[in-house]
Amino acid sequence: MSGTVYLVGAGPGAADLLTLRAARLLGEAEIVFHDALVPGEILSLARRAQLVAVGKRSGRHSTAQRFINKRLADAARKHRVVVRLKGGDPLVFGRAQEEIDFLRARGIVVEVVPGITAALAAGADLGVSLTQRGVARSLAFVTPRVGAGESPSTWVQSVLAADTAAIYMGAGEAPAIAQALMAAGKAPGTPVVVIENASMEHRAVHGTLAQLAVLAAQLSGGPVLILLGEVLRKAARAARSATARRRLAR
Ligand SMILES: C[S@@+](CC[C@H](N)C(=O)[O-])C[C@H]1O[C@@H](n2cnc3c(N)ncnc32)[C@H](O)[C@@H]1O
Repeated sequence: MSGTVYLVGAGPGAADLLTLRAARLLGEAEIVFHDALVPGEILSLARRAQLVAVGKRSGRHSTAQRFINKRLADAARKHRVVVRLKGGDPLVFGRAQEEIDFLRARGIVVEVVPGITAALAAGADLGVSLTQRGVARSLAFVTPRVGAGESPSTWVQSVLAADTAAIYMGAGEAPAIAQALMAAGKAPGTPVVVIENASMEHRAVHGTLAQLAVLAAQLSGGPVLILLGEVLRKAARAARSATARRRLAR
């Protein structure tokens, strides 16, 4: 027997941001392979499935990825509905292509179910449109993170070329990110928001590119996205006024 492997986007965290298709497939799944960041409330929708956590430990990504590919293929030989559940959208910084190619090369049917990516959830939490008429007509999703043996990323050029940028997997390297962007000519006063746990009990800290390292250091361990661009200027001003009002009220 050969079942179908569904690469399903779990969204940014809030269970009610899951698509109806994702929820239906979780209910039908016989086995679910899920990332570490997927919350229990979403996993509980997979009522009849065996749950397998396949979070990758940093530094052992390629071994772990080969192992996951193989487990998915083995599961498709035993089960009709196999769900591979990934945070956000499976096709955005999710190593989905490696899984799709591996499975299709073995004649296994793969379907992708999109999810809400972190950048869109962050924009929603802030009430900031990431594209804005007259301010921002381009939006780049980038990450400075590259795997061992891969060629260096061109993320700096992408950020410079776009009006708004969403930087994934960058919080741990915030000082180097700010330095690289300013050295390449990005204005130190460019508005920046660092947002943790978008779509959930999130925390957002506003400032400028020059302050990025200090902003990132204020967060506490959840998934973090860095947003950058003029579209954030008004939100930063509003956040500063709110902080000033709170100080006065004390
Ligand atoms: C391996 S990438 C996966 C991205 C995912 N496929 C997506 O579309 O959002 C993980 C990174 O996404 C970002 N991220 C994921 N969920 C987030 C959330 N709820 N709030 C802020 N950033 C998040 C963080 O930058 C995190 O390091």
